[in-house]
This record gives sequence, C-alpha cells and structure tokens, in this order.
Amino acid sequence: MDLVFATNNKHKLEEITHIIGNQYHIISLHEIGCFDEIPETEETLEGNALLKARYVHSRFHCHCFADDTGLEIEALNGEPGVYSARYAGEQCSFEDNIVKVLQKMEGKTNRKALFRTVIALIIHEKEFLFEGSIKGTIIENKKGISGFGYDPIFIPVGYSETFAEMGNDLKNQISHRALATQKLTQFLQSAISY
Ligand code: IMP
Repeated sequence: MDLVFATNNKHKLEEITHIIGNQYHIISLHEIGCFDEIPETEETLEGNALLKARYVHSRFHCHCFADDTGLEIEALNGEPGVYSARYAGEQCSFEDNIVKVLQKMEGKTNRKALFRTVIALIIHEKEFLFEGSIKGTIIENKKGISGFGYDPIFIPVGYSETFAEMGNDLKNQISHRALATQKLTQFLQSAISY
C-alpha cells in the first residue's frame, strides 16, 4: 500500500522506510507532485501535524501522515515548542536558535526539557495521532557535532552525553521521533494483519 509522508526531508524518509520495511511504500511529497509550502500555522504540534496531513489528503486523496517536533523547556514555559524551527526568526539557522535558547536560559537553575514528536496519520479516511517524547536537560554550552537542531545542548535523562555527542545510531533508537515512529509502525503493522 502506498503511504505519503508529508515531507521532502530525505533523512526522515530513509529513517521511516527502514523502520516500516516493505509492507508499505513510503512516498515523498515531490513524488506525488506536491511542491507547495504547506502551512504550519497552528499553535500546537498536534495541530500542525494534522494540518499538514489534512492538506495532503484533501488535495491528493491518498493515505498519508505528517509529523511535527518541538523542544519544550520548562523554565521557558514550554518554549520554543511549536516554534522550534524558527525560534530566532523566519530565516534563522540551528546555531541562531541555540544561541537564543542559551541566552534565555542564563541563570536558570531548572534546566528540564522535553523533546516531543507528534505524527498525524490519515488512512481510510480516519485520523490517528501518535506521540513520542524524551526528557532531558539543557546544558550551558554546546557539546558534540552530530545530529542537528538543538542536539548539542540536550542531554537525555539516563545519559551523560548530548544527542550530538552520542551519534545518530544511539540517538535514533531512543529519540522522541524514533518513539513516535515506532508507535506508527506498530499501528500500521497491526492494521495490515486485519
Ligand atoms: P520538525 O518538525 O521535525 O521539522 O522539527 C522542528 C524543529 O525542531 C527543527 O527545525 C529543529 O530545530 C528541532 N528538532 C526537531 N527534531 C530534533 C532533533 O531530533 N534534535 C534536535 N532538534 C530537533
């Protein structure tokens, strides 16, 4: 069965294709001829994931899913949250976002944070949500060079290295996105056996 992933991020496509295996044929937006900038105008991860999945479903009439991820920092009242990609401005880099977070965290003793991914699936005209999250702490200076985004400043609970120090192999087993993806995969695999 074909399943459209509302992304053109090659890394995400490979990751999910690897996990789901060949029971589903995962297709990117470009492969279905969708070159639109899909809006992410909701104020929650759930809202944005659903918005993207509904956008693709309503225009292309296909089974599809979309994801949205945010870093929620307790001492910043959940920021950057749904604005994680553009925390330091519309055209900002990962580095700009890290600088902004570290500045706002100066002097804060509560360094607790949560990475959260929500996946919205629309299949056979029904909507489903899957969530994965991982708790951790925000350190004061960047460490490590692998991964992306906020990886150099986030140490997951139970580990002594940042996501950027531990490397992608371990990160992809324990991360928020891996957990949400596993839930999606389990659902799809049980759905296929009916
Ligand atoms: P997206 O919804 O997957 O595009 O993620 C939104 C933003 O959250 C990204 O632009 C990154 O800044 C941040 N982000 C998402 N996943 C990760 C991760 O695994 N590590 C670090 N930052 C992430």
